[in-house]
Amino acid sequence: MKNITVKTSKTYNITIGTNILDTAGSHIRQKIDGQTAAIITDDIVSGLYEKRLSDNLVKNGYRVIRYVFPNGESSKTAETFFSILNFLAEEKLSRSDVVVALGGGVVGDLAGFTAACYMRGIKFVQIPTTLLSMVDSSVGGKTGINLACGKNLAGAFYQPDAVICDVSLLSTLTDEVFKDGCAEVIKYGVIADKALFESLKNPIRNNLTDIIARCIEIKRDVVMEDEYETGIRKLLNFGHTVGHAIELLSEYKTFHGHAVAAGMAIVTRATVRMGICKTDCLDELLKMLKSYDLPVNTKYDAESLTNACLSDKKRGGDSITMIFPVEIGKCILKQIPVNEIKTIIQSGLEVQA
Ligand SMILES: NC(=O)c1ccc[n+]([C@@H]2O[C@H](COP(=O)([O-])OP(=O)(O)OC[C@H]3O[C@@H](n4cnc5c(N)ncnc54)[C@H](O)[C@@H]3O)[C@@H](O)[C@H]2O)c1
Repeated sequence: MKNITVKTSKTYNITIGTNILDTAGSHIRQKIDGQTAAIITDDIVSGLYEKRLSDNLVKNGYRVIRYVFPNGESSKTAETFFSILNFLAEEKLSRSDVVVALGGGVVGDLAGFTAACYMRGIKFVQIPTTLLSMVDSSVGGKTGINLACGKNLAGAFYQPDAVICDVSLLSTLTDEVFKDGCAEVIKYGVIADKALFESLKNPIRNNLTDIIARCIEIKRDVVMEDEYETGIRKLLNFGHTVGHAIELLSEYKTFHGHAVAAGMAIVTRATVRMGICKTDCLDELLKMLKSYDLPVNTKYDAESLTNACLSDKKRGGDSITMIFPVEIGKCILKQIPVNEIKTIIQSGLEVQA
């Protein structure tokens, strides 16, 4: 078992281990006194893991209530958010009680935003169940929902009280969902750690606990330096501006990690053409993404991608922050005027034969 401490506006521990879902109730009880634990989960994860969590919460003295919504990005809406808030109110949750997110990034983002808003903030524990949510979304306190105009346009920075990563839960993921997480793991290698990137030449599944822990450490270090994303935290968005545009244009049928993979490839291609990084770096990234069967291009054209990018919240006035790799393990932030975005994206698209 590994423990990683995050010191931000709230200090909390991330515990990584195998079969620790069965002791999650006692783990939470050591930190949170409340009477009621509200499990928020989706219909797939509920069927797989909710009972194990619920039994252990009951064993540790909690009244357990549950809110289950249909799985997938299309649930990450204001409707689901208000429905959960009303559910918590009807169940008379108090500020000393706890919301437990059991699921992937969609569950974590929704439950976290609800926990941030209900009574202006209630205790909150993340139990991520996808690779992506373990290495990324459960750490660092970003929570939120999508609006019709774009992804994560409403949200809050709200750190959890604890994160429990049970790596054995990943055994039930479909290949597609597992690959989504691989894209984020590859991202960490490119932005911060060449050795991690090199290690991914062996399949991630061979060394899951260590790789998850390393990604969490990278995210922890960045978040501790810049909790509210005024600077260096933006590095974590490598591939995300174009990735979010792809998700939006596909009406969220393209999964987050797949969209980010294509986004990283497109931006890196453009970066080579801008003379910021060498072809070797692009070749290594493309080879790695392809080895995990992740996309390195998109069917959308530069015009549509640019319009979708500009509806992204990361736009600041007349410019947008983009993240460009210099070499594997090192990226830089650059302010790009909005009127240059389309040219950059165009130069990053792979020309179809
Ligand atoms: N808050 C952040 O910092 C942050 C960072 C990255 C991504 N995100 C968000 O995370 C979301 C994507 O997260 P995700 O990829 O985990 O998607 P997800 O939550 O939609 O999960 C993907 C699918 O896997 C299923 N699933 C989850 N755990 C399972 C398990 N153990 N076994 C079998 N099936 C399981 C789910 O039911 C769902 O169908 C996006 O909304 C993205 O915006 C947030």
